Amino acid sequence: MKTETTINGLRGALRAARKAGKSIAFVPTMGNLHDGHITLVKAAKRRADVVVASIFVNPTQFGVNEDFDKYPRTLPADSALLADADCDLLFAPDAREMYPDGRSQHTSVSVSGITDVLCGASRPGHFTGVATVVCKLLNIVQPDMALFGEKDYQQLAVIRCMARELCFPVDVIGVPTVRADDGLALSSRNGFLSADERQQAPLIFQTLSNLRSAIESGQRDYTMLAQAARSHLDKCGFVTDYLDIRRQDLVDASADDKALVILVAARLGATRLIDNLAFELA
Ligand code: PAJ
Repeated sequence: MKTETTINGLRGALRAARKAGKSIAFVPTMGNLHDGHITLVKAAKRRADVVVASIFVNPTQFGVNEDFDKYPRTLPADSALLADADCDLLFAPDAREMYPDGRSQHTSVSVSGITDVLCGASRPGHFTGVATVVCKLLNIVQPDMALFGEKDYQQLAVIRCMARELCFPVDVIGVPTVRADDGLALSSRNGFLSADERQQAPLIFQTLSNLRSAIESGQRDYTMLAQAARSHLDKCGFVTDYLDIRRQDLVDASADDKALVILVAARLGATRLIDNLAFELA
């Protein structure tokens, strides 16, 4: 696996493959890689001739009081995992390469509407940071397809919307969430959990699964169901930021909707965890 740290270097490294008509798949990440990320790389490998991954802890998607400084940076271990997964090219730029004029550049990509709710409501500016950096990365790599995890459900919706409305010639592919055996969605932030918190954390997915069962067995008072689930999480030591039952396009669900998603964000100590469960009613 080759590693490039500059935009020119990356473009140069892809020139021959592009000329030879090879298909290119792209997996953007912020590093501290786990099986969730590696699953994306392997899915990319099955679909394309050349797989490019990026590692860049993007400052513009972190709020002022968020964990940008303590976000784990583990490049040597990440490189080894990517090489093992047969990734062809790693793009690992520094902040100056991505934001030469500092983080407050004049141009940004903001997706309205779907970013007003859920993580968009509790993390102002977060999705503008995500959409802007993904836009830049897509312009740098110019892949045929880009793969994102369904774990970050709203992020995937934002990127699909941006790609469609700004006519990016890229196929945006969602990959199912990879979980630990106890159901906890893998996340770079799980490493911040204490041993006790790690024991508690699977309750998030259990709560989503119980809600799904309740809905599948006919319960339709989504406001009441969500409120009860929130209280349960809070009683068990979480500070729930949101827990919503929505249509899969993120509009509020009503009783006759069939394609649903339950989304949750909850803090356990200082660590904010997110998860979701999408399903269809018969
Ligand atoms: P990061 O959190 O590193 O995630 C990179 C990709 O891995 C995202 O598409 C995310 O949804 C996916 N992913 C994370 N955990 C997963 C899991 N358990 N199962 C499946 N996929 C998982 O998301 C970002 O970085 C950034 O916002 C980024 C898109 C790179 C822009 O900076």
